[in-house]
Order: sequence, then structure tokens, then C-alpha cells
Amino acid sequence: MTTSIPPLAGQFQLQDYENTRETFRWEDVHTQFNWYSTGNVNMAHECVDRHVENGKGDRIALRFLADDGRETTTTYAQLKEETDHLATVLAHRGVQEGDFVFVFLPKEPSVYVAMLAAIKLGAVVAPLFEAFMEDGVRDRMNDCEGKYLITNEAFYKRVPRGELPALSHVFLTDGKKTNEAEGIFSLPSELAAGERDPHILRWVSLDSGLNIHYTSGSTGKPKGIVHAHRVMIQQYQTGKWVLDLREDDVYWCTAHPGWVTGTVYGVFAPLLHGVEIVIVSGRFTAEGWYQALEKTGVTVWYSAPTAFRMLMAQGAELTNQFDLSSLRHIMSVGEPLNPEVIYWGQKAFNLRIHDTWWMTETGAQLVANLPSQPIKPGSMGRAIPGITVAVLDDEGNELPRGEIGHLAVQAPWPALMKEVWRNEEKFQSYFPFEGWYVSGDLARQDDDGYVFFQGRSDDMINSSGERIGPFEVESTLISHPAVAEAGVIGKPDPVRGEIVKAFLVLRNGYEESESLKEELYRYVKTHLAGHAAPREIQIVSSLPKTKISGKILRRELKRLELEKLSLQR
Ligand code: WTA
Repeated sequence: MTTSIPPLAGQFQLQDYENTRETFRWEDVHTQFNWYSTGNVNMAHECVDRHVENGKGDRIALRFLADDGRETTTTYAQLKEETDHLATVLAHRGVQEGDFVFVFLPKEPSVYVAMLAAIKLGAVVAPLFEAFMEDGVRDRMNDCEGKYLITNEAFYKRVPRGELPALSHVFLTDGKKTNEAEGIFSLPSELAAGERDPHILRWVSLDSGLNIHYTSGSTGKPKGIVHAHRVMIQQYQTGKWVLDLREDDVYWCTAHPGWVTGTVYGVFAPLLHGVEIVIVSGRFTAEGWYQALEKTGVTVWYSAPTAFRMLMAQGAELTNQFDLSSLRHIMSVGEPLNPEVIYWGQKAFNLRIHDTWWMTETGAQLVANLPSQPIKPGSMGRAIPGITVAVLDDEGNELPRGEIGHLAVQAPWPALMKEVWRNEEKFQSYFPFEGWYVSGDLARQDDDGYVFFQGRSDDMINSSGERIGPFEVESTLISHPAVAEAGVIGKPDPVRGEIVKAFLVLRNGYEESESLKEELYRYVKTHLAGHAAPREIQIVSSLPKTKISGKILRRELKRLELEKLSLQR
């Protein structure tokens, strides 16, 4: 039995968990929004314009730390102007309510501006992760026939235009010249030439599409999870209860908006609360991250176990070189948070690291460790007020506390996905039992309701908190001339949680060699994405398959791998 860690002294936004659970209703939150009194709905209005109308335009919205040490800030008033201006250009070029607008940019303020400008027009914004290569971009953009793309010259090189028949407009944030015939629009010149309409924002409804995130499961290509503007109800409330945001907070979410955490808790939730968002570009280095925390005076920090483990590996000597005294609240998401990391966090920051659980499909946090409540290391926390979770057996019956089963959530809730784009069957598959959303995660609950993650019930891979579908990696691998068959699994890894491991059958005429493995790794990296590339490749003469359909049995590959690992210990 691990002992629980008591909350730190202090007053938090959700102080009395039990009582709030009893009395809270989601409708109570509606009064927080402009639309409650006006009837006019738009996420971008609630995130930006409302604060300016309320006299908070001079507050800093974005503080950007560039690779080269440059620091720039954008106030809420400037963010309103910039998003109005870009929205005016986009509207002039045809973007309308319900259109998909893809955003493919590095982690810098332009992503935030692009996303919010599209949302102002009632368009459905589709942020792409910055590491995607041609295959990743193509499959996502073609699935919803994306017509509009906002990107830059460098990233545009990774957009296979010839394979994207629906794409008609490419807006380049650093483009030199507009070339209408080719559908290329230079944003600097369009912005310089165009008017800025301060009233460009379009009112939509709470159920209108807001954003789409492509996410991987164990089968098929990534699915487009569409969310509606109503997500703001829960994103605001979790921003208050779980992130514990207050107006003067300096907040850093380390995820890129191409991942759902980077959008929901990197853009929407903090802006709904009017706080200052820190944006740090570039690659992870322990020193760079500590510097960012110190320099910007981050008070609330949301990151992921792999990053914490990487910081932990650098040791206390490095941590101690920095003044991190402004930090007051730390959270984690995306993969299991080991108790050792929590204990390290207590030593390194004098703070607890609060694990949180949710998924792209759920639209906001559902289970969390709250700042006012005890943490049981190894547990993701309890269902937040307004949410009921349970552990179900294969028939949909609630299991007694302590038993492992399917982690399920009573549906619906405000941030639940609106649809899976053009895939009603997939959408319905999340609801196999009346009234329950079934997450695909396995868990157990203790007598106090704390939820303990136990793994996935399917083949989805989670490497460094990034959700990777084995099918997508296998598809890319078999498009290489050397590969006849591929089976891809997640192999346990002490730092990344899991790494991608591929079992491959080679085509006749190809021999196993280190250079071929290296080539295949690079092939996935350059065609799909670095995080999906197999760090380990094993060449085999055949793959285990189901007798009837001949489908590759990843489960068997995983079983053999785990067996091998346990023998090595
Ligand atoms: C996993 C990320 C363990 C889980 C917000 C889930 C977690 C998937 C945790 C969703 C956690 C998320 N502990 N595992 N605290 N949080 N996961 O859609 O398997 O990228 O189903 O959303 O990540 O990943 P997604």
C-alpha cells in the first residue's frame, strides 16, 4: 500500500470535493459565458474578445520564447486585432462557417492566431502536429477534404499538394507573393493590403463544429474527432478546478496544439480564464525548459510523464541551478505517471505533480487529482464533479471496487465529441452499453473512488504520451520495397513509457542488416512522423496471424515481447 500525499496548505478553486459532487450541475457554469446573457455563441469571443470588452485588453495573452532567446508578448487587445485581421483575409478568400481550416505551423504565436481566426469565422479548425510528414498530412487532410491550409514555407514542403485534390487555398505566414492561379496566398501581403473588420466574428451555435483532431486507434487510419463550441463549458470549469487558474497566473502547457492537450489546455482553457500563456518553441532540453520556467515565472505548469522522467534523469544538480519559486501547481497527462516521478517532483519543486486523465474523444479532463485533495501515487485521481465513471466487465456490468475492467464514463457530458467525421459506426462503437462511453482503457477503482490505470484493451501505442496507431505505421512500412509484412506494437520503455517496435517479414531479395533497419526507421520518420518511427526492428520469417481472416496478431507479438523482457530481468 502506498501512502497518500496530503494537499499543500492553501485555498483552491475547488475546496470541498464531496460537497461539490453532490450539488454541482453543469448548467451552473453557463452563467460564466457571454452567450448566457446575449445568446451569441463563439469560442473565440469567449477566449479573446470578451476580455477586451471587459477592459482587460492590456493584459498579456501570449508570451513567446523563441529558440534564439528572443521574447515577444501579445496582449489580449493585440490578439483580438490580429485574429480579426486574419479572419477578414480568410473570409475574403472564401472561408465560411463549417469549412475545415488546417493549421500546420510550429509552436509559436502564429498557430494560436491562425486557430482563433478560423474559429472566429465559424470554421472547424484542424491543427496538425508539427512533426508530421507527407503521409501523415495527406491522410488527415484528405479524410475531411480540407480546402484551406495555413502554414509556412518550410512546412509547406511536407504538404503533398498533388495528392490533395480538395485543397484549394494555401495561406503562407511567411509567403512572399500571392499566386491566385496556384492557390498560394502570401499572408504578409494579404494582411498588408486588406482591411481589418473588427466585427468579422460570426455567431454560431453551441453544437456547431469547433475543431477536429485526428487520433489513432488500433485499426485503420486516424479518425477525425470533431468537437463543438459547447466544449467550452467543461474546458472552462476544469481550467478552474483542475488547473486552478486565477487571473494573474502565468501558465505553460508544453504540448503542441496538434495534440488535443495543446489545443484544449494550451489554447482554450487558459484563454477562457484570461491568463498569460507561455509558448516555448524548439526541441526539449532539460536546461531550456528550466530556463523557460525561471525566465517567464510560470506559476501553473501542465506537462507529461516522459518530460518529467527526462528532467528527473538530469538530476537535482541541474534543477538546483534555477529559481523555480514562482511555480505553484503542476499537472501531468497522457500516459501513466509513475509514483517515483511524483516523489521526485516533491523534492525538485516542493510541489505535488497532479495526474489527470482524459482523451481526444472526451474533449476535457474527466478524472483528476485536485489540488485540495490527497494524491494516491499511482492513481489518476477521481472523477471531477459532474462526471461519473465506473469500471465495467465485458457485458457492461459495473464491477466491484478493486477489480480490473473497462474504464467507462456516464454519457453525455458537455465536452464529449460531437461526431467522428463521416464514421457513425466508429462513433457508436464507443457506446456499446446503454448510457456509457467506453474508453478503451483498463482500470480499477479503490473504495474511495480513485482510478488506477492498468493499460489499454486494444493495440494502441502510447509513446511519450503520443497516441500512435500501429496500422498507420504498418501501412507506411509496407510501402517500402523491402517490406512484405509488418506487425507493430508498443514495447515497454523506462523513459518513453513505450517505444514503437516493428516485426517485419522482408521481401525476397532483401537481407537483414543494420543499415536496412536504419533505412526503415528513417523511412517512417520522413514519410509519417518521427514519433511514430520504430526505434526497434526485428526481422522475422513469418508473423502470427488469425486462422480465419489471416489478420496479424499484434497481441501475440506483444505477449512474446513481454515474455522476452521478463526473462531478461
Ligand atoms: C492515455 C490525451 C495513463 C490513455 C489527453 C488514453 C493516460 C489516451 C493518461 C488518450 C493518464 C491519458 N494515465 N494513461 N493520466 N491520460 N492516457 O487522445 O490510454 O492523445 O486513452 O488524449 O492516453 O490519448 P489522447
